[in-house]
Amino acid sequence: MLTLNIIGAGRLGKTLAKLAQRSGQYRIGAVVCRSLPAAQQACAFIGAGQPCASVQALPAANLTLLAVPDGAIASVAAELAASGTLAAGSVAFHASGVGEAALLAPLAAAGVHCASLHPAFSFAEPARAAQGFAGTRCALEGDAAAFPVLRDFAHAIGGVPFDLAPGGKAAYHAALSIASNYLVTLHDLAARVAAQAGMADEVAAAVLGGLMRQTLENTLALGPQAALTGPIARGDAGTVARHRAVLLTADDALYCALGRATATLAADRLDAVTQTMLAQALQPVLRAE
Ligand SMILES: NC(=O)c1ccc[n+]([C@@H]2O[C@H](COP(=O)([O-])OP(=O)(O)OC[C@H]3O[C@@H](n4cnc5c(N)ncnc54)[C@H](OP(=O)(O)O)[C@@H]3O)[C@@H](O)[C@H]2O)c1
Repeated sequence: MLTLNIIGAGRLGKTLAKLAQRSGQYRIGAVVCRSLPAAQQACAFIGAGQPCASVQALPAANLTLLAVPDGAIASVAAELAASGTLAAGSVAFHASGVGEAALLAPLAAAGVHCASLHPAFSFAEPARAAQGFAGTRCALEGDAAAFPVLRDFAHAIGGVPFDLAPGGKAAYHAALSIASNYLVTLHDLAARVAAQAGMADEVAAAVLGGLMRQTLENTLALGPQAALTGPIARGDAGTVARHRAVLLTADDALYCALGRATATLAADRLDAVTQTMLAQALQPVLRAE
């Protein structure tokens, strides 16, 4: 059985440790937080592990997870490397979405196999997260020597690992942020514009929710080009102008930026004249400073 040490038992650290413990394939070794009481509470939640006051006092382990906030990963790695507590040949990994394994460089220099394992999942609350984690995709990046161990770990906790190309972390995380965060921003924009139409909140929620769900299913099943419908896909510059006439300035800027990207997506179905008319209809308003 492999031993797993946890440094940073917050939302993600506690959840992954609990899942690893539950798998029966890992022994939870030490658990380190910024304070001993926090580490004790984390061990109680995990149902295993030794609360540990500092990284200098870590016992030996096959795997060490640095689940501290992104901004603390490099300094904790430097502290760990200086303490010499991680054995060469063992695996250290962090869970940042955008940070690369290079954040652990001082440990790599000491012969530790360093990688990142990012679960594409929102760990809002550990007990709830542990219930819903199964099937989560986990992105692996870093030292390929760590991958077999981390693939096994991902499978053991119910995840589905996949490898990222070197240098791919920033684009990977940007893609996730666009897919997740910007979808929420679009919902907010649509809801505000619906309120301008005088729609009651519950009516707008039902109408927009139904349409957003259906459109998401369509684009996932058919691909963006085939799923696209609406005035821009039909080359209807007149409808675009009527929309813009009722939008507030900030909303109009977003409408135009997204509209131009939508027109590019629809370009194959539109003749050159229609594309030019759409491009003119989607010109942002220029303001004198
Ligand atoms: N939350 C998510 O949805 C999510 C999703 C994917 C990836 N991640 C990644 O997971 C990592 C952890 O995020 P999180 O949301 O779990 O953070 P979190 O809930 O804020 O937990 C951070 C933990 O790190 C501990 N900590 C902070 N500085 C430390 C230090 N210098 N030494 C030792 N322990 C320290 C904290 O200790 P105390 O308990 O004593 O405060 C806390 O237990 C990040 O890299 C994040 O990008 C998070």
